[in-house]
Amino acid sequence: MKKIAVKASKPYEVLVGKGLISRCGELISEVTKTKYAAIITDDIVDSIYSKDVISSLEEDGFKTVRFVFKNGETSKCSDTLNRIYNFLAENNITRSDCVIALGGGVTGDITGYAAATYLRGISFIQIPTTLLAQIDSSVGGKTAINLSCGKNLVGAFKQPELVICDPLTLKTLSPEIVSDGMAEAIKYGMIRSRELFDIIASHSIDNYFDVIDDIICRCVSIKSEIVANDEFDKGERMLLNFGHTIGHAIENYFNYTGYTHGSAVAAGMHAITEQAVKHSDCSENCLKALDEVITSYKLPLVTEASLDELVPLCSNDKKCESTSINAIICSDIGTSSIRKMPFSEFKKYMEA
Ligand code: NAD
Ligand code: GLY
Repeated sequence: MKKIAVKASKPYEVLVGKGLISRCGELISEVTKTKYAAIITDDIVDSIYSKDVISSLEEDGFKTVRFVFKNGETSKCSDTLNRIYNFLAENNITRSDCVIALGGGVTGDITGYAAATYLRGISFIQIPTTLLAQIDSSVGGKTAINLSCGKNLVGAFKQPELVICDPLTLKTLSPEIVSDGMAEAIKYGMIRSRELFDIIASHSIDNYFDVIDDIICRCVSIKSEIVANDEFDKGERMLLNFGHTIGHAIENYFNYTGYTHGSAVAAGMHAITEQAVKHSDCSENCLKALDEVITSYKLPLVTEASLDELVPLCSNDKKCESTSINAIICSDIGTSSIRKMPFSEFKKYMEA
């Protein structure tokens, strides 16, 4: 088992190791005094993993209750959140008890937000079961729900007590969902680590599992370092948005149904890097390496929407500040910077 410390305002550890799910009772006991936990999970994850999680918790003396919602992004909404609040209240979950998010980023985000707000805040533990959740959403404390007019518009920063990543859970994911998460792993390599990029690039969607523990640990270490420096997203943390400005525009353009988040981010990383090459901010070799790795994980370089159609949608991005935008540009693999520019300049940058 590997341990990665996240030095946020409230420090905690991310544990990474195959088989950890069946030891979760013992691991959670080390970070909380309570023996009463509410598990929040979706129907798919419930059918595969709840049994092992509950039996490990019970072995360690926990009493558990479990709330199951329908899987998918549309459940990350105020209706599910209200049902979670009522479930916690009806089951007498108090401020000294804890909530466990068992599932992907949807489960982690909504459970984290419920934990941030129920009784003005109770402890929560993340057991992420998708690659995206293990390397990104479970770490760093961003929690949220969607509104009908946009994603993640209501949320809070709420750090978990512990994150337990069991890479074996990735074995039950479809290859598409693995690819989706791999887009974020490629992003970490691009913004911070050529070594990580090379490990990902020397594998593919067919054999990534051979090096999965290493990939997860490297991604989490990068995220934890960035979060320690800028927990509340005022500066360096924006680097994590590489590929996301155009990516969010793609998701928006296709009504959040045409392209998955990871596919949109992959096309977004390609788009901004292609423009960076045209402006001599990045070498052609870097773009070529990025394109090769995106393709080898069966992610798209482009979508049917043109940049002319996508760029105007970028002004809705949360990383925009009124008339300016924080563009994330990689000058090389592993080297990135935040370039704040007026939106008009960003438009020109993307037009070149
Ligand atoms: P998800 O939680 O919807 O999971 C994707 C699908 O995989 C679901 O159908 C789920 O039931 C299924 N699943 C989960 N684990 C499984 C397993 N081990 N085996 C089989 N099926 C499994 O989606 P996601 O891609 O994990 O997360 C996307 C969400 O994360 C979005 O809402 C996004 O906004 C959020 N996010 C948050 C942050 C953050 O910092 N908080 C960062 C990135 C993304
Ligand atoms: N996923 C981006 C962030 O945590 O800031």
